[in-house]
Amino acid sequence: MDSEPSREWWREAVAYQIYPRSFQDSNGDGIGDLEGIIQRLDYLNDGTRRSLGVDAVWLSPTFPSPMADFGYDVADYCDVHPDFGTLETMDRLIAECHRRGIRVLLDWVPNHTSDRHPWFIESRSSRSNPKRDWYIWRDPKPDGSPPNNWRSVFGGPAWTFDETTGQYYLHSFLKEQPDLNWRNPEVEQAMFDTLRFWFKRGVDGFRIDVIGRILKHPDLPDNPPNPEWQPGERERFSQIWVYNHNFPDVFEAVKRIRRVFDEYPGTVSVGEVFGTPEEIARFYGDDDERGLHLAFNFHFIHEHGHVITPWEAPVLRRIIGNAEASVPSFSQPCFALNNHDRSRFITRHDADGRGRERARAAPLLLLGLRNTPFLYYGEEIGMADVDIPPERQQDPARFRSVGRDPERTPMQWDTSPGRGFTSGEPWLPFGPLSPNVAEQDSDPDSLLNLYRSAVWLRKELAALRRGSLQRLGGDESVVSWLRVAEGAPSVFVAVNTSTEAVTVDVPFRLSSIALCTDRAREGHLRSERLELPPLGAAWVVEGS
Ligand code: GLC
Ligand code: CA
Repeated sequence: MDSEPSREWWREAVAYQIYPRSFQDSNGDGIGDLEGIIQRLDYLNDGTRRSLGVDAVWLSPTFPSPMADFGYDVADYCDVHPDFGTLETMDRLIAECHRRGIRVLLDWVPNHTSDRHPWFIESRSSRSNPKRDWYIWRDPKPDGSPPNNWRSVFGGPAWTFDETTGQYYLHSFLKEQPDLNWRNPEVEQAMFDTLRFWFKRGVDGFRIDVIGRILKHPDLPDNPPNPEWQPGERERFSQIWVYNHNFPDVFEAVKRIRRVFDEYPGTVSVGEVFGTPEEIARFYGDDDERGLHLAFNFHFIHEHGHVITPWEAPVLRRIIGNAEASVPSFSQPCFALNNHDRSRFITRHDADGRGRERARAAPLLLLGLRNTPFLYYGEEIGMADVDIPPERQQDPARFRSVGRDPERTPMQWDTSPGRGFTSGEPWLPFGPLSPNVAEQDSDPDSLLNLYRSAVWLRKELAALRRGSLQRLGGDESVVSWLRVAEGAPSVFVAVNTSTEAVTVDVPFRLSSIALCTDRAREGHLRSERLELPPLGAAWVVEGS
């Protein structure tokens, strides 16, 4: 890589999330590992259009962990879980990525540690332990019940009573994930040092886990009940998270976190955040002081926590418009259509059995927007949720009725018994033989080759890479916009969310279809009208 890396490389990057347990197993234990990722780097980017061409990878947690929440319960922020490899393997992975121009983001989990982290073991050992105040301990109420009414995101009370010292500790997630006390400056400093540890090893940035929860109201008051909640719905929505989610102090802490990133120019922070467009925007900081470089916008997946966002032009247009209007001008949005916590795109949009068709329009939307897009492994071949029989279920979290295993199954490389993923028993069952990489690799019509074309075209077309987004429009069936960069041809993006073919006006006299879900249509456009196939999408480039 360049000896002077461009400081804001992330503005033009396409990123790819790897769930390390499920990408590639190198030693036959059925669990993906870092060595396996290294073996697959050419698939991600070998410098040619035969590869996906991504510019960065984010690895979900790779640290030592009892795996109560599959790595989001960290027992040591500065090492590698033996299932995944060693520090040496990680160093090699970073070097091998950099050799290919791929930046590496790790997953920083600042809100909580594992209950096996040495800090918590000390903290729970006695009320007078110097680390007691590194976590959030409170006396029971006089009747013995928890200090307040907060519910865990995964269900049940957010407090667990500890017999040894007769107090409750707070955990926003599993009881194996005690929340750190970010009001203690020692905690903040210790956590900052974990960032520095990896920056010194060459890591290019971090995805930051549930950053909106690190600071709560100092008095920990009860949350008000949610009047819209119906018994039987997910318990975590039974109250409004006023005092333990996006609490104003979080936005100041985020600026202090940013200063640590600024000690290492060229690094990037990407926050996992939830909220309204305005709340998301606040994570970026302000004109006086910057916050996170990027904050995820998950509104294409869900806007209100549990309601799946429909694939409908007016809804997509509203989400895009809100993000354009709210993210500060010094940065840009950051969208994803999939991740390890949510049902996969195809499954979400398959009520009429046409999820696969919608999945072809997805990359044209995501990579056609002004944003730093994040792909999730397997999305590029159209992996869907996999039914997991009860005896094979692993995820303890009850996000939905089944947990999150269905979207975390092993990458399907080919049709061999181990799917090219493992020579052993995979930790989660495989999906059906198709889709897989091998069948799509040389098929010009495949979803994989559509993704590859989209990523490489984005590199070629400055308007898509760094242009502004203008003339957001369309109608009930179509969402469309223009990407405009000085000195480069403009690009018109149109996505048809209806199941009928539609015709739209193209704002150029001369143009060509650079990419279309129906690949036979690519090429010179003879009129200022563009026909989009049912559920189809196209990128039209100005000029002949
Ligand atoms: C985030 C992660 C999720 C994890 C939770 C607790 O939402 O994406 O996988 O369970 O935080 O760390
Ligand atoms: Ca392995």
